Amino acid sequence: MQLAMIEDKVIPYAELEPVYLDRGAFFGDGVYEVIRSYEGRLFALDEHLARFARSLREIAIDGVDIADVRQRIETAFDRASIVNAKVYFHITRGSGDRGHGAPKDMKPRFFLTVMELADNPKNKEDGISVSTFPDWRWKRCDIKSLNLLPNVLAKMDAEKKGCGEAILVNDAGEVTEGSSSAFFIVRAGGREIVTRPLGPDILPSITRAIVERMAGEAGVRMIEAAFRPEDAGRAEEMFLAVTTQDIVPVVRFDGTQVGTGRPGACTKRLIEIFAEYARRRR
Ligand code: PDD
Repeated sequence: MQLAMIEDKVIPYAELEPVYLDRGAFFGDGVYEVIRSYEGRLFALDEHLARFARSLREIAIDGVDIADVRQRIETAFDRASIVNAKVYFHITRGSGDRGHGAPKDMKPRFFLTVMELADNPKNKEDGISVSTFPDWRWKRCDIKSLNLLPNVLAKMDAEKKGCGEAILVNDAGEVTEGSSSAFFIVRAGGREIVTRPLGPDILPSITRAIVERMAGEAGVRMIEAAFRPEDAGRAEEMFLAVTTQDIVPVVRFDGTQVGTGRPGACTKRLIEIFAEYARRRR
C-alpha cells in the first residue's frame, strides 16, 4: 500500500491532503511578497504586485491573474480589520507527487496571512547591531522566491551574536544586502547614501526604491556602488530598509561602533521623511 506518515500517524497516500504535497514545501518552488499597512491603508500595493508578477514570470508559474490576487489581498485585509498589519502571501507551483519535473497542468496554490505588525520604536530610537555572514544564496536573488535557507541561516547566526540582522558578503568580498532587508551606508558628511546596484544578486527592494525617491528631499545623493565590509566599518552611519520596519538605524557593525554609536542625523531625517511619505500615500 502506498502510504504517508505525518508525525507518527500512518495514512493511505491517496488520503493525503494536497497541501502536504505542495511544491513549496518540497522544493521552495514558489514566490512571495510581504506588504504592510499604515493606519488602515495598504502601502505600496501596486509596487509589490508588480514585483510579484515579475517573480512569477521569472520562475514560469503561468496563468495567475494579478487582478484576482489584488482582490484577495484587499478582501482579506478588510476582513482582518487590523490597522497596522503585515500581509504575507505566496503562490507555489501547486501540489503533486514529489518529482523535480513539474507536470504542465499543475494548479498554482495561493496562501495568505494577515497579522498584527508590531512596530519596534526602540529599534528606530536606539538603532540595532548587525553582523556579517557569507552570502550563500543562488544567482537569482532578484526573484522573491520561497527558497530562503541561506537567509535563515544568516539570521540565526546574527541572533546568536545578539544582532538584529545579518549583512551578507559575497565571494568577491562585497556586501550584497541584509538577510531580509536592503542595506545602506552613509558617507561624505551625511551627503551620500550608498547601496549595492540592482542586479541578480539582490532583491529589488520596494523600500529601497522609496528611499531613492526621497533622497532629493532629504538632501542626499543615492549612489549605487559595490562596497566591502571595511568600507561599511568606516561609514558615518548605516541603515536597513525593509517593508515591515521601513528604515532602521544600525549602530554596531561586526562588534564595532558606527559613528557616535547613536542613530545619525541623515538616517533620522530619512525616517522622518519616510513617515511623512507613508502618511501621504495612505
Ligand atoms: N524581506 N532583501 C531581502 C533579501 C529581503 O527579504 C527583503 C524583504 C528586502 C527588502 O525588500 P522590501 O523593501 O521590498 O521589503 C531586501 C521581507 C520583508 C521578508 O522576507 O519578510
